[in-house]
Amino acid sequence: MTKEFDVIVIGGGPGGYIAAIRAAQLGLSAACIDEWKNDKGGPALGGTCTNVGCIPSKALLQSSEHFDQAQHHFAEHGIEVKGLKIDVTQMTARKDNVVKQNNDGILYLFKKNKVSFFHGRGSFVKALEGKYEIAVTGAQSETLIGRQIIIATGSNARALPGTPFDEETILSNDGALKIKGVPAKLGLIGAGVIGLEMGSVWRRLGSEVTILEGLPTFLGAADEQIAKEAHKIFVKQGLKIELGVKVGEIVKSKKGVSVSYTTASGQAQTGEFDKLIVSIGRVPNTVGLNTEAVGLQLDERGAIVVDQSCKTHLPNVWAIGDVVRGPMLAHKAEEEGVAVAERIAGQHGHVNFNTIPWVIYTSPEIAWVGQTEQQLKASGRAYKAGTFPFLANGRARAMGDTTGMVKFLADAATDEILGVHIIGPVASELIAESVVAMEFKASAEDIARICHAHPSLSEATKEAALAVDKRTLNF
Ligand code: FAD
Ligand code: NAI
Repeated sequence: MTKEFDVIVIGGGPGGYIAAIRAAQLGLSAACIDEWKNDKGGPALGGTCTNVGCIPSKALLQSSEHFDQAQHHFAEHGIEVKGLKIDVTQMTARKDNVVKQNNDGILYLFKKNKVSFFHGRGSFVKALEGKYEIAVTGAQSETLIGRQIIIATGSNARALPGTPFDEETILSNDGALKIKGVPAKLGLIGAGVIGLEMGSVWRRLGSEVTILEGLPTFLGAADEQIAKEAHKIFVKQGLKIELGVKVGEIVKSKKGVSVSYTTASGQAQTGEFDKLIVSIGRVPNTVGLNTEAVGLQLDERGAIVVDQSCKTHLPNVWAIGDVVRGPMLAHKAEEEGVAVAERIAGQHGHVNFNTIPWVIYTSPEIAWVGQTEQQLKASGRAYKAGTFPFLANGRARAMGDTTGMVKFLADAATDEILGVHIIGPVASELIAESVVAMEFKASAEDIARICHAHPSLSEATKEAALAVDKRTLNF
């Protein structure tokens, strides 16, 4: 018998599963279809983020950071470690267990919120006067009818033309998270977020890491001052980063892979690597959705065309997350999921694109919200800047982690915070204060006048806010 739902969500990543839960919370009958399979063929909810993205990468970053600390920093605390070694099998098993806990957690949340889950591929069959017939195929075969459809089918890793991923030697993010031993020589193409995070993991564990980046600038999306600082630190740590290269032929050999490239100065080079991670961005995924059946509009990148409120041009069809425009971030997908469910329920869901934080989980971490100094200059906005180094922060000294700074950018006339940029210890957590401040349109002085616990890293945020008015107290 055909089952009918108020809302059918196709895709169970952070965008889709959150949309389904929010819809159910609002009293709508909600179904979520997801095709991801675990090793045993069972469901593995959470999409890219949980299975081959945010969660497993952070698990490996944590393990490798412990190793790096034990190897290089414990001695200064008077802790002696003898016979230190890394067991990659155990590290990977721990990571897999963290992933499983998250997969199972989402299944539990679906039960708790009465979301009907279908394990299989969801595809459009036909439109039925404002409703849609959706086929589920795969582990389960069903025909569903949805009064509202939310597409949350995510993205896939982009391969270099003519160089498909084999996930043994030439790796996407998937294979990069499953490397079985420490490669002596690891090559990465693309010095973006994945390149830096995965490069850091294997560099800490002992690989000689070379990152080949096509653009002449490093981390162009970040504030230039922060990006320059990051580049200096990463190179000092041992990452070899070649900017402005043109990647040529990639040939697999018995030993690994060789990559021909031309350097920024025009020299022909060949890099020989045991493994190669290709991290050159991701492409929106609509494979298998059968969009043609309903005439869903895609743009030239293959992303589903939506307006500001995530509406497609088809009535009652919405799309969210990586499969639409905007940054490919899990929390952006989640916010869109909540907003769309609320709009379907007649509420006024809203996503503020100006206050979506970015975090790169390297060591030190890099995090920012709002505009960069170069964006403010380009738009002609008059601004004031203030920075405060962690070197002058008591907690950072006690922790033995004083690299980096907090940087505030505020409107020259009104003092409204326009951007906050952090490179330093746990920047991922510190940035939350600035996101809240910007959401409430706070001024730099608001942060400067708020009592921050001592000793804490957050005092560096307060001091950077004070620096906007040239009145730091501890620097
Ligand atoms: P996805 O998570 O891609 O989920 C889509 C789901 O839909 C998948 O389960 C897929 O199997 C399913 N699906 C697709 N088509 C169908 C169909 N026809 N029928 C049924 N199911 C279907 N972002 C962050 O914010 N922080 C991070 O630290 C971070 N780290 C990352 C690290 C890596 C290595 C990678 C690759 C990405 C990382 N991201 C991070 C990005 C983040 O993973 C994505 O932005 C996020 O997963 C997008 O969520 P989504 O719900 O749009 O899609
Ligand atoms: P990215 O867009 O961050 O970086 C890709 C890099 O590859 C860019 O610097 C680009 O200039 C370079 N590049 C592109 N083509 C190239 C070529 N042919 N040769 C050499 N260099 C080339 O993409 P990445 O790292 O693949 O990650 C994909 C997305 O996943 C990110 O944009 C981000 O949205 C998300 N992500 C988020 C994380 C986080 O929030 N911490 C962690 C990892 C991924």
